[in-house]
Amino acid sequence: MPGTCVVGLQWGDEAKGKLVDILTEQHEIVVRYAGGANAGHTVVSDGQTWKLSLIPSGILRNGVACVVTGGVVLDPAAVIKEIDGLESRGVTIAGKLLVSDRAHVVFPWHVAEDKLLDGSLSGGEPIGTTGRGIGPCYRDKVGRSLAIRLGDLYRPEFPAQLAHITALKAKLLGVEFDVAAIREQYRQYAERLRPFVCDTTSYLLDAVEAGRKVLFEGAQGALLDVDHGTYPFVTSSNSSGVGISNGSGVPGRWIERVIGVVKAYSTRVGGGPMPTEQDNAVGQRIRDRGNEYGTVTRRPRRCGWFDAVAARYTARLSGVDELAVMLLDVLSGFDELAICSAYMIDGRRVTQFPSHIDDVKRAEPVYEMLPGWHEELTGVRRYDDLPENARRYLARIGELLGRPVTVVSVGPDRAQTIFCDPAPKRHPWPRPQHPAPANA
Ligand code: GDP
Ligand code: IMO
Ligand code: MG
Repeated sequence: MPGTCVVGLQWGDEAKGKLVDILTEQHEIVVRYAGGANAGHTVVSDGQTWKLSLIPSGILRNGVACVVTGGVVLDPAAVIKEIDGLESRGVTIAGKLLVSDRAHVVFPWHVAEDKLLDGSLSGGEPIGTTGRGIGPCYRDKVGRSLAIRLGDLYRPEFPAQLAHITALKAKLLGVEFDVAAIREQYRQYAERLRPFVCDTTSYLLDAVEAGRKVLFEGAQGALLDVDHGTYPFVTSSNSSGVGISNGSGVPGRWIERVIGVVKAYSTRVGGGPMPTEQDNAVGQRIRDRGNEYGTVTRRPRRCGWFDAVAARYTARLSGVDELAVMLLDVLSGFDELAICSAYMIDGRRVTQFPSHIDDVKRAEPVYEMLPGWHEELTGVRRYDDLPENARRYLARIGELLGRPVTVVSVGPDRAQTIFCDPAPKRHPWPRPQHPAPANA
């Protein structure tokens, strides 16, 4: 079966982009299936840094098709800027990029609504969105009456459709929009994007049925999944593994391998509970060493210890077969490292990630302490050359999540990657739960 998926198991920024870039070598097609310009994926190779947002991280390699599916919300200005930026640095886009005509289009009112509504959750704590109009665009998609898909921009009815929706949006928001300017702007965007626009669902179905090797690139992280994450402090798409099919149109039966990507610790950008957050010198040390500032907004990321309760839940949710543990080098220099293996909630020990945000807020982490290491890891290239305590730390993550760690990353560069072959510890799959949930 032809499909591999890379999915983030935390709150995003797990270094999915780095892994996708590496795995692209073994694939023919790379697919973005959810999210939009809220994503910021970094690839570092040969001293050059690339920031990808809407375009799959496979674009840096030749001979690979990169597909943006209908599950993505597309800001045409953002994607055109990205195309221009890549082309100006010598990356070929023509003939490689396909963009779904089903993708919903972000309009200026979506960005305005995002900014207007972000602070208005009941209870007042903002989600802290990226401000890219993601939530409002997905809301209009589901609501249908105010939505415009990329394919609509090429229809003769588009001017009338746009005029109708602009008038309604102006009324709803109490803001004037210059419909003629927007129409002309989006006409130009449509012309620029025309060579890339197609029915990507049929393209991908043909591809998987022909046995072509397809790599699905998750955006965000599974804890930000709109249905299964820390709702309402989530994004507006199915960012976990469950979103692969609905976003791309490729049935799950074609997905052979799901790689769950985690940082060796936890980070989160924006609001919402994060049980293992270290708002102290530990968190600051991780932030400094990991350069933990958002790729899209440059906001400082909240940092904390590895949360195995949350990641085990998302590994199961996403059907993860194996784990890639990234940014392990950041943890050098701690005498001891903590891994959260359970929560205490109202005096009860819990190992299942709670479904309600209030329980996540009240969760007090139960930590296992593991010995740290002081060696720098950035030059290590073989699993056996990692300090023993680093190997123990990885093994414990694998045990708690019930999946083998098959990839370890010790720096941003492509070369700073260790493939564990054979995997350090194989678990049968599916395996019994570990540890047995106290609240089962
Ligand atoms: P993504 O959104 O999941 O693709 O991740 P981001 O690109 O937003 O954030 C990951 C950051 O970590 C980027 O700045 C990467 O260059 C960097 N990075 C990736 N792997 C490693 C690693 O193993 N060690 C260190 N120190 N940095 C890494
Ligand atoms: P990548 O793909 C980290 C977070 C935002 C906010 C919440 C909702 O780079 O891992 P949105 O703009 O989507 O409505 O914001 O989700 N968020 C991310 N955090 N990495 C991302 O993407 C994110 N995309 C959205 O910070 O808390
Ligand atoms: Mg990112």
